[in-house]
Amino acid sequence: MSAQIIDGKAIAATIRGEIAAEVEAMTAQYGKVPGLAAVLVGERRDSQTYVRMKKKACAEVGITSFGHDLPEDISQEELLKVVRDLNANPEVNGILVQLPLPDHIDDEEVLGGVDLEKDVDGFHPINIGRLSMKRRDPLFVPCTPKGCIELLDRSGIEIEGKRAVVLGRSNIVGLPVAMLLLHRNATLTICHSRTQDLPGVVREADILIAAVGRAEMVRGDWVKPGVSVIDVGINAVDDPTRERGYRLVGDVAFDEVKEVAAAITPVPGGVGPMTIAMLLRNTTDSAKRTLGME
Ligand code: GUN
Repeated sequence: MSAQIIDGKAIAATIRGEIAAEVEAMTAQYGKVPGLAAVLVGERRDSQTYVRMKKKACAEVGITSFGHDLPEDISQEELLKVVRDLNANPEVNGILVQLPLPDHIDDEEVLGGVDLEKDVDGFHPINIGRLSMKRRDPLFVPCTPKGCIELLDRSGIEIEGKRAVVLGRSNIVGLPVAMLLLHRNATLTICHSRTQDLPGVVREADILIAAVGRAEMVRGDWVKPGVSVIDVGINAVDDPTRERGYRLVGDVAFDEVKEVAAAITPVPGGVGPMTIAMLLRNTTDSAKRTLGME
């Protein structure tokens, strides 16, 4: 039997609708709208695309966005000054520094320079530290991991007591999503490039989060029947039949795994739209907190 396809695009649209209503209520009650500052350093095409999509999504729900496109060779001090100015700007409720930053920049110092109350990406060392401990609520949780959990919740997939396997241990997805699963009382395994018998470990999963960045690595015979799969990968593979010469695939061989799984996210249209929806969520929550609305 074919799996339930988890429609991230539709779920994200529902969430954007919820946020738009909250922004409208905020404007009616306080005459304010949430503001997001997007800091982009350099000319990476992928980062430019992500930032453009984030700003467009802000506009659709009524959030004001402030763009800061900075040159690749900006100094550490100059970049820190931009962040400090945004910290001091009352129109800005959230600050997003698009990653990765150029090699000469110390990204830990930059992320640590963002005001905790405006850290809508959840990458401030204190927010990450709180996420990594019991009973220490971070002010914000990173957007892609939060989106993965939201997809499971809104699809009625129970997490508590389940075996969760996370493929990948990046700072942006693998590690924080693992912490969120643990907080929700999953039994957790984190796999990486040195894991022995990877298919054997993946086969134990009731919930599989794939975030390694390797096209279609997880095959149909790697998964247990009835598994729920969240595929975070976005990989371009050559495809001469497409006008642009490539297509996007996940870390999971979708056509094979959907025949075994109970539920699976597609790529594109799964996790991707959720990352942006969670950024809007965090920015709106930040504005509500500032106004004392929650
Ligand atoms: N680069 C890849 N993913 C992300 C993200 O969620 N936030 C930021 N700021 N940069 C990223």
